[in-house]
Amino acid sequence: MSKILIIEDEAAIRRVLGKIIRNENDSFVVEEAEDGLSGFQMIEKTDYDLVLCDIKMPKMDGVEVLERTQKIKPDIPFIMISGHGELETAVQTMRLGAFDYISKPPDLNRLLNAIRNALDRKQLVVENKRLKKKVDKNFQMIGESEAIADIKKLIDKVAPTEARVLITGNNGTGKELVAHWIHQKSNRSKGVMVEVNCAAIPSELIESELFGHVKGSFTGANKDRSGKFETANGGTIFLDEVGDMSLSAQAKVLRALQENKISRVGSDKDIKIDVRVITATNKDLKKEIAAGNFREDLYHRLAVILIHVPSLNDRKDDIPLLIEHFSNIISQQQGVAPKKFHKDSIKLLQEYDWTGNVRELRNIIERLMILGEDEISENDVKIFAMK
Ligand SMILES: Nc1ncnc2c1ncn2[C@@H]1O[C@H](COP(=O)(O)OP(=O)(O)OP(=O)(O)O)[C@@H](O)[C@H]1O
Ligand SMILES: [Mg+2]
Repeated sequence: MSKILIIEDEAAIRRVLGKIIRNENDSFVVEEAEDGLSGFQMIEKTDYDLVLCDIKMPKMDGVEVLERTQKIKPDIPFIMISGHGELETAVQTMRLGAFDYISKPPDLNRLLNAIRNALDRKQLVVENKRLKKKVDKNFQMIGESEAIADIKKLIDKVAPTEARVLITGNNGTGKELVAHWIHQKSNRSKGVMVEVNCAAIPSELIESELFGHVKGSFTGANKDRSGKFETANGGTIFLDEVGDMSLSAQAKVLRALQENKISRVGSDKDIKIDVRVITATNKDLKKEIAAGNFREDLYHRLAVILIHVPSLNDRKDDIPLLIEHFSNIISQQQGVAPKKFHKDSIKLLQEYDWTGNVRELRNIIERLMILGEDEISENDVKIFAMK
């Protein structure tokens, strides 16, 4: 159902417009106002999906209705109705944010087209906002512990620079989240952040994945392909599990960092790149260096800034907040009401040994919300969360 408001002082035009729109689609609900002021008062009270608005009207003209609506409900698209000799004003309203305009007498096709486009765009805007909210929530970094506060401060300091950052920490502590925020708060946030999980790619493919290849450079390379460094140009590349990268790939990454140039596998043509590198690992790279698995020169290039994300066991004060946060996210995702956690259940969860860190906590909250009582009890935790 779409709610459409027609603001027009000429009764004949109002009637024609209303009739055309109602005929077009049964799900269009049309309301009418006969001057600008009463139209605006209706907009204040009701959420319309679209407003058709005359320009010259008594009490308040169409331009003012548009401007005042934009201050309170900026997502409502306006189609202006321009009378004879008002074309210039109509064009001007588009600059003020009107979606489109039609001239009197209204042309049927032009009118219906404008209405369809405006409603489509409205839906897109609303959907985008909804998605953005959902994504934002998923990327919130929750925690009031000193450790999290320090990490947030560090992110704010480091993000706007071009410095390379190495993020360390155990599985599921939130390393990727940190990388996400460094990119978001950097001057490259309009560019992409390309993620490469070095542990998930077989060592013989990692070079081609990172740097691309030319046709015929190895069996199966049947066309030229660009790699992640090229894709990330102007943005950020996030090399996750960098400690698992093969030594030959490490050598190539080192060159990319030293010279800001790469070449595709099988080609000696240099390609200039402008990429900020963020890396993460759950390995102790110093140990890997000692064991000959990681290049020390590369380590020093990558670890200009070190951010260590502590294990959840070392910041158990954050657990109640995290429980509430995940309960909200999960209930939203599944379309159910958030569950209350009894204080004894929270206390027990705080005593648990979180070897899988925040990711494990999230999974267990999800499990409890599916399997537990309406209010999660200490007993639910004992049954469903204990190893
Ligand atoms: N402080 C936090 N607040 C809210 N959510 C968090 C926090 N830390 C981690 N998470 C969530 O926990 C999950 C795991 O985090 P993330 O993937 O960033 O960890 P990781 O250290 O990269 O893990 P892995 O080593 O397994 O790759 C994600 O869903 C993330 O959004
Ligand atoms: Mg990760």
